[in-house]
Amino acid sequence: MVDFSLTDKVALITGASRGIGEAIAKALAGQGAKCILVSRKPEGLDKVAGEINQAGGQAETMACHAGYLDQIQALFDNVKEKHGKLDILVNNAATNPHFGELISAEESHWDKIMDVNLKGPFFMIQRAVPLMEAAGGGAILNVSSINGIKPAFMQGIYSISKAALISMTKAYAKELAPKKIRVNALLPGMTETKFSEAILGNKEIHDFVIQQIPMGRHAQPDEMAGAALYLVSDAASFTTGAYIICDGGMIA
Ligand SMILES: NC(=O)c1ccc[n+]([C@@H]2O[C@H](COP(=O)([O-])OP(=O)(O)OC[C@H]3O[C@@H](n4cnc5c(N)ncnc54)[C@H](OP(=O)(O)O)[C@@H]3O)[C@@H](O)[C@H]2O)c1
Repeated sequence: MVDFSLTDKVALITGASRGIGEAIAKALAGQGAKCILVSRKPEGLDKVAGEINQAGGQAETMACHAGYLDQIQALFDNVKEKHGKLDILVNNAATNPHFGELISAEESHWDKIMDVNLKGPFFMIQRAVPLMEAAGGGAILNVSSINGIKPAFMQGIYSISKAALISMTKAYAKELAPKKIRVNALLPGMTETKFSEAILGNKEIHDFVIQQIPMGRHAQPDEMAGAALYLVSDAASFTTGAYIICDGGMIA
């Protein structure tokens, strides 16, 4: 039997207040997971949690800036106190404050991107491990990007961070396999969210990108949720250190 059910699994999803993180959280909750929705601002989180709970799922919210280790520590202390374990971690939150050439990037751009996109996931995983051991194992999903395989023009530092996140996925997968913790990545292509607003809202750039997508369109956030659900469920019980590309064929 292929098993996608997540009944009573405790799942923490970062960047769950909108976009791809919201879609993943709703998919996991739909399979019975108790979802802990995380981002910086409570308003968006409360809205998503309300929708999940109203639909018969289970969701709660915890605020945390993914770039600050003290907030990550407090987050995991809170999870330990409330649940005593963690089954699933989805590192989805990311940022990209620099759209421009690498040679004009400033130290602050580098630091912000690396703090949120890399340091955050690294320490979230480190702090999640003891809670997953308490659960007898677990599944971790890092939301990277096709830019991690093929750097996007004017998004260099972001692309570098996403390439390193793929490497981190593989490195942790090897180290954590004996602990029954699987670590995989999802590589979305162009998806309609607030994050991609600057690109999708500019007709010239949008048309340039769409021309490179064999399916001739960008994705909706829900189209990322199936691959995410597969990778964190027991259906993927022999899959670790891997990634799934959902990009309409763009980098094929
Ligand atoms: N959209 C695309 O085309 C695309 C393509 C490839 C990969 N991705 C990846 O997909 C993931 C989700 O992106 P998205 O498009 O869904 O973005 P989005 O709609 O802008 O959502 C970003 C989420 O991350 C949270 N967040 C931002 N900075 C944070 C921080 N410092 N600490 C904690 N949470 C933070 C935001 O909530 P708060 O503001 O409340 O913190 C929000 O919930 C990212 O990893 C992104 O790199 C997106």
